[in-house]
Amino acid sequence: MQIGIDFGTSYSAAAAYVQGRLEGIRFGEQSQFRTAVFFPAAVPDPADFYLSAERELEVDAYVRSAKAAQRSAYVAWQQRRGEAERLSGWDKAKALALASEPTERSDADLRAAGIRHVRRNWMENLVRQSQGAVVKVNDALFGDEAIDAYINDGLGHLVESPKSMLGYKLLPNARRVILHIASHVLEHIRLSATRQLGTPVRAAILGRPVEFKSAMGAKGTEQALEMLTEAAQSAGFEQIAFLEEPAAAAMHYHTQLTLPERSLIVDVGGGTTDVAFAEVGGTAAAARILGSWGLPRGGTDIDIELSLAAFMPLFGRGHPLIPVHHFREAASVQSPPQQKEFRGHNYRDAPQPFGTRLQELQRIGSTSLLNREAERMKIALGQVASDRVELDFIEHGLAVELDLRHRDQAYADFLDKLAALLGRVRGDIGVVPDSVFLTGGSSRAPLIREVVAREFPGVRIVVGDASLGVVSGLAVAAGQWEL
Ligand SMILES: Nc1ncnc2c1ncn2[C@@H]1O[C@H](COP(=O)(O)OP(=O)(O)OP(=O)(O)O)[C@@H](O)[C@H]1O
Ligand SMILES: [Mg+2]
Repeated sequence: MQIGIDFGTSYSAAAAYVQGRLEGIRFGEQSQFRTAVFFPAAVPDPADFYLSAERELEVDAYVRSAKAAQRSAYVAWQQRRGEAERLSGWDKAKALALASEPTERSDADLRAAGIRHVRRNWMENLVRQSQGAVVKVNDALFGDEAIDAYINDGLGHLVESPKSMLGYKLLPNARRVILHIASHVLEHIRLSATRQLGTPVRAAILGRPVEFKSAMGAKGTEQALEMLTEAAQSAGFEQIAFLEEPAAAAMHYHTQLTLPERSLIVDVGGGTTDVAFAEVGGTAAAARILGSWGLPRGGTDIDIELSLAAFMPLFGRGHPLIPVHHFREAASVQSPPQQKEFRGHNYRDAPQPFGTRLQELQRIGSTSLLNREAERMKIALGQVASDRVELDFIEHGLAVELDLRHRDQAYADFLDKLAALLGRVRGDIGVVPDSVFLTGGSSRAPLIREVVAREFPGVRIVVGDASLGVVSGLAVAAGQWEL
């Protein structure tokens, strides 16, 4: 049995054609999972935690200080509102809209947060005492479960989006770790598919971006493909082949059409943006790919920019005494080397309040939590003009209001590059396509759709399944090709 595998920067999925029908592989309840793996360390069981009298006192102290912070946030809000009331007209409406009332957390909520805080300190002490503990490879967790385990327990190693590292120069040890992780993800997929389909799965067609993220140009893509091949082999695949992700999406779109057309397939993902021009539909057995183009940028790059624009000023970005590259390191959760650099800085004497906040951000799980908030806000700002983020895990009562200026700052560089890419594609193909087929999670973003529509005015836009367009096409190929 051959399956199609979309090993994505942000999400991975798999599917097969079974008796002429597309069957998505399930991962628990989900049709895809976050491409993240967590290897827990072999240290004492988290279930060993209990609330001793001493720990109860710590919880009480936490609750007291959280309540004090809540009270001062409330007073500050009343003050802001009072100031807003004194304004008039549009200024007043705007100021009132921005002064949103801080949410009051119930006592039970605060106590639960206090217990989590004390439990996390307990865990971190254990980690410190058990430095060098053996990592339990067989207990690896995947997807959101991996990230949650890392944030809550912290005992072990988390790698998010290993795909985005494959094209970079890697020291032998880092190469081994990334290979190991990629092969774990692929094995997880292989075994899930074997279980669901009831037959051994040993062959796969893997999606690949036209150009991988890399600092080495074409060499990076070559290295990434070598590493993925090796990872797939050690995951138990005997035959594998690669298909460019937008070409795969074209194969899927082809099966949906009766009349032939020339379509531009645009896949805006988490790590890369990939485009193919293809003849689809009609009586041909498969889509015919006429050309492909790649931009090694995607949604995760926008998350980093949003974090830099909206969150990092709270950590001292812009302060002359804190080097500016520290903030990019902290925001780049996909890069273990950059995360390690960030954790290695000493902020004991850094200007306040930034020093303490940066130390909090260095704690296990904090950069992942902050990144989640950046991604969540990026998505929210596609629908609403402003929203508030509470950063209690950094400091009680710390919050920030994000608005469209932050969103525009975060998207600016990506949108420029996307417009340049589409302009180049327009020049290369020399004809007006009959349609533009959109897929990839980031294609949901209104700003991205606007750029596509602007670059191809008047062309019909077909909105495909943002999450499953590529994997469906890989399954079509897996059903047709003899590997
Ligand atoms: N409504 C939305 N608005 C903006 N971005 C979104 C939205 N929904 C999902 N995304 C983004 O889409 C990205 C994930 O898309 P997708 O699953 O296509 O990526 P991937 O296939 O894992 O990555 P790649 O193909 O680049 O390796 C993430 O960056 C996510 O934040
Ligand atoms: Mg993708």
